[in-house]
Amino acid sequence: MNAFRRYSRTSCGSETGIKLLSELSNWLGSGRLIPVNDIAVDLGTANTLIYVKGEGIVLNEPSVVAVERGSRRILGIGLEAKRMLGRTPEGIEAIRPLKDGVIADVDVTEMMLRHFLKQVTSKRIFRIKPTVVVGVPSGITELERRAVRSSAMSAGSKNVFMVDEPMAAAIGVGLPVETPTGNMVIDIGGGTTDYVLYVDGAILASGCIPVGGDHVTNDIHLVTHLPLSKAEQVKKTEGDASGDPTKSEGVVTVADEGGFPDVELKRQIINDVIRMRFQETLELVRERLPDDGLVRVGKGVFLTGGSSQMVGLGELAQDVFGLPVYKPESPDVSGVHAYIKDPQYFTALGLIRYAQILEEERPNSSAWGKVSGFLRSLWPFGG
Ligand SMILES: Nc1ncnc2c1ncn2[C@@H]1O[C@H](COP(=O)(O)OP(=O)(O)OP(=O)(O)O)[C@@H](O)[C@H]1O
Ligand SMILES: [Mg+2]
Repeated sequence: MNAFRRYSRTSCGSETGIKLLSELSNWLGSGRLIPVNDIAVDLGTANTLIYVKGEGIVLNEPSVVAVERGSRRILGIGLEAKRMLGRTPEGIEAIRPLKDGVIADVDVTEMMLRHFLKQVTSKRIFRIKPTVVVGVPSGITELERRAVRSSAMSAGSKNVFMVDEPMAAAIGVGLPVETPTGNMVIDIGGGTTDYVLYVDGAILASGCIPVGGDHVTNDIHLVTHLPLSKAEQVKKTEGDASGDPTKSEGVVTVADEGGFPDVELKRQIINDVIRMRFQETLELVRERLPDDGLVRVGKGVFLTGGSSQMVGLGELAQDVFGLPVYKPESPDVSGVHAYIKDPQYFTALGLIRYAQILEEERPNSSAWGKVSGFLRSLWPFGG
């Protein structure tokens, strides 16, 4: 039986995520029949991605639901909700059912996931019911886990597996897990920063800080009074988190489409807001590592997630950890070439790889022991 070595862990929710992995590891080790996996879902705070085997990423929509103010009637989900919110924002409220790394609204999450899966499954005739692998925020509770399972089942799945996001990101990055040196992956998304440090095939530390790029956007919005959509745009196109003073000279001009004069903002202010939030978050990760954690990191720190695209974040992470920082190229995964250079897709990629390996190794049932052994070599479980 696999020993799941764990020295320290902090989570955004409960410890269920780790228990789940442990369970999955035991399940794989037990040699029971492993089914084919057809669909991988990265259920993110900001975006939900769905991958279908052999086709690549078929759905990439914001994890947002539009409800009517007052009645709370659901008006739209995903892209449709985002479009509605842009058009008639007064009578409509946006719900982000996954917030701060936990499932804040179980019913709405269930509805959203079912909607996304139905959108994918209704378009095709599966000869068999698909098995669904879902990447979920670290540490979701038992109740949340049941909601994810039941919505996937009611959308026509045969089986549902749940995988911790940072683990999926680590697999997506394609890091070897059984080398004596350690690896650290930090997945900086919209609502959370998930990290995992594993050494010699065992997890030394993992956890989740309930802060991500959406908080940074909100900070810019609060400080500059720009609408959130503009704040997001400024962050992505003008911001720099490096702390390099030459990157903070002058002003940023933000055009106003409503006929008001353009707004001029000091670059220094925007960059300070961005840097402060990311620095604090990365320092929290560092503080939560065991004393000898950083010494045992081998090659360096790997950044994934949409926010790892933030300009200057690599330099900032290097300052905080005192280690080389990588935004790695993903391993080659058939069918998704167009996406694989984008760190936002690493979690989905990990889920895909997981599904692919199961598929490739499936041919004869006597090979199940080998399958589970190979999977264990990919997954950061203790042996
Ligand atoms: N070029 C960019 N520069 C800075 N930030 C970016 C860029 N592109 C995307 N982001 C940020 O990435 C975040 C979304 O990342 P991602 O899609 O990985 O989140 P998620 O997986 O839905 O969230 P989580 O993992 O927290 O549940 C948003 O905050 C967005 O602003
Ligand atoms: Mg994510």
